[in-house]
Amino acid sequence: MSNLTTNQDLDPVALRRAFGVFPTGVVALAAEVEGVPVGLAASSFTSVSIDPPLVSVSVAHTSKTWPDLRRGRHFGVTVLADHHGTVCRQLSGPVPERFTGLDLTVSEDGAVTLDEGLVRFSCSLYREVEAGDHVIVLLKVESVDQAELGGEGHPLVFHRSGFGRLERSA
Ligand SMILES: Cc1cc2nc3c(=O)[nH]c(=O)nc-3n(C[C@H](O)[C@H](O)[C@H](O)COP(=O)(O)O)c2cc1C
Repeated sequence: MSNLTTNQDLDPVALRRAFGVFPTGVVALAAEVEGVPVGLAASSFTSVSIDPPLVSVSVAHTSKTWPDLRRGRHFGVTVLADHHGTVCRQLSGPVPERFTGLDLTVSEDGAVTLDEGLVRFSCSLYREVEAGDHVIVLLKVESVDQAELGGEGHPLVFHRSGFGRLERSA
């Protein structure tokens, strides 16, 4: 059997590539702050707990958006659909254009979600946990809105730095 770990394997580029082998969905994490939608695309979303209902997103310390976004009252988490590849790039690109042309819903408590998302969560900030060069943002789910077509829609899949679709084998 070959040696699994060497220090060389842990250089950041190789590690990023290795992490990218694990496929994920992508969410838009967004809130209205001072009347303006603020947010970013994140593939680090994961469900954490049913009781209490918790999800998490890991945000890089280099994020210029998180210090603003965290001031939101509530946070929208939208699970992106397979046709959202370009939207996802937009949501991770230049801040002034992140929400341009997108159909959004802003809840009374300031959670911003994309109308065509598969599932939309409205969350409050539960806890922030420092984790290396990221902060794990734990969010408490306050409400869930599964879009009409949500049950049938396909998610955007992020894999090896590119987008794909989920193919069911059975
Ligand atoms: C598919 C995809 C997934 C991403 N996932 C994350 C993530 O999980 N955490 C994160 O901090 N940034 C992630 N980003 C980068 C952010 O969307 C954004 O580009 C980054 O935070 C820099 O912008 P900012 O300085 O305005 O925060 C992702 C980008 C893309 C395209």
